[in-house]
Amino acid sequence: MIGLFERLARPFLHALDPEDAHSLTIKMLACAPLPRAAGDDKRLAVRAFGLNFPNPIGMAAGFDKNGEVPDALLRLGFGFVETGTVTPLPQRGNPRPRVFRLNADRGVINRLGFNSQGAEAVLRRLAARANAGGIVGINIGANKDAADRVADYVRLIERFAPIASYVTINISSPNTPGLRNLQQAEALDDLLARVIDARERVTRRAGPTPVLLKIAPDLSLAELDDAVGVARARRVDGMIVGNTTLTRPASLREMKIAKEAGGLSGRPLLPLATRMLAETYVRVESAFPLIGVGGIDSGAAALAKIRAGASLIQLYSALVFRGLGLVAEIKSALLSALERDSLDSLSELVGADAAAVTAEAWLG
Ligand SMILES: Cc1cc2nc3c(=O)[nH]c(=O)nc-3n(C[C@H](O)[C@H](O)[C@H](O)COP(=O)(O)O)c2cc1C
Repeated sequence: MIGLFERLARPFLHALDPEDAHSLTIKMLACAPLPRAAGDDKRLAVRAFGLNFPNPIGMAAGFDKNGEVPDALLRLGFGFVETGTVTPLPQRGNPRPRVFRLNADRGVINRLGFNSQGAEAVLRRLAARANAGGIVGINIGANKDAADRVADYVRLIERFAPIASYVTINISSPNTPGLRNLQQAEALDDLLARVIDARERVTRRAGPTPVLLKIAPDLSLAELDDAVGVARARRVDGMIVGNTTLTRPASLREMKIAKEAGGLSGRPLLPLATRMLAETYVRVESAFPLIGVGGIDSGAAALAKIRAGASLIQLYSALVFRGLGLVAEIKSALLSALERDSLDSLSELVGADAAAVTAEAWLG
């Protein structure tokens, strides 16, 4: 049903400005009586960060920024949903247009700049569905004009940790000037010290909430060494690799749109994001699990992420081009991979290719 509806709706959605199409999709998901996806095969189950995921496929941050449709997405078969990025105070983000499709490349460029309804509105929605079950994480960011950005993260941890399945510290959006500087060793150490401290305070009254760190795929390997070192020393629960890229691969065909400022996602991001995932995996040495995100648009790409080191995966841009049927397609591809190797669980594939991927010549 949903597949047929989507096939009919997609040409119409693609005729709209990408941001209008997105708003309409959120409205449809919020209102439509959605069928519940079939229950997941237990071989797809993943245990990570102390949570039990029914399957490893998550909706990446940015799709449901304001927590309007997490339950619709879970019904449609996602194993988890990452709401946000949410900022403490509401903010509009950058002027429109600020989202662009690269159709021939199956890519997206966005420079939204953390448009958010703000913490209070999102908290209210998540609190209202707190007993509905399912894994719903929250991705948090600082307001653009915050005097003390670290204080913004601390405030958001205090507010959201009691009701979110996990909290992601997003310091990798390229669209808030200076935000990515928080990835540098000294700044990151200070940020994580204060964030983990805030999480410990909340734990005493509300129980533990995993804290994940989402990084950019544009870090140099020396910067990655530092980021992983600090994340391990400060004992974060996991990392997400990664956000959109400021680079423009030479292979891009939509040359004119590629000149738009912003972060690139979708298929052109897959090689870089998967390489950075494997580089992160070999540095983390199983201290915590990783979520692999960037360019997944097929079962093969999902499997490549897992083999490069991802215990869980997330996607967003491919939904624009492939629709929600992609989630079921990935599940069946992962099950086929397990059957091919006579395995009972995806955990046996995690990182199988990490060493080989990091040994490849660096991408041009
Ligand atoms: C329109 C758009 C908005 C996004 N907004 C956010 C965001 O608010 N916070 C965040 O951490 N990542 C955001 N992302 C990045 C995605 O979560 C993901 O890391 C990235 O798009 C790579 O995955 P993909 O190639 O499957 O899209 C956004 C991506 C897109 C395309």
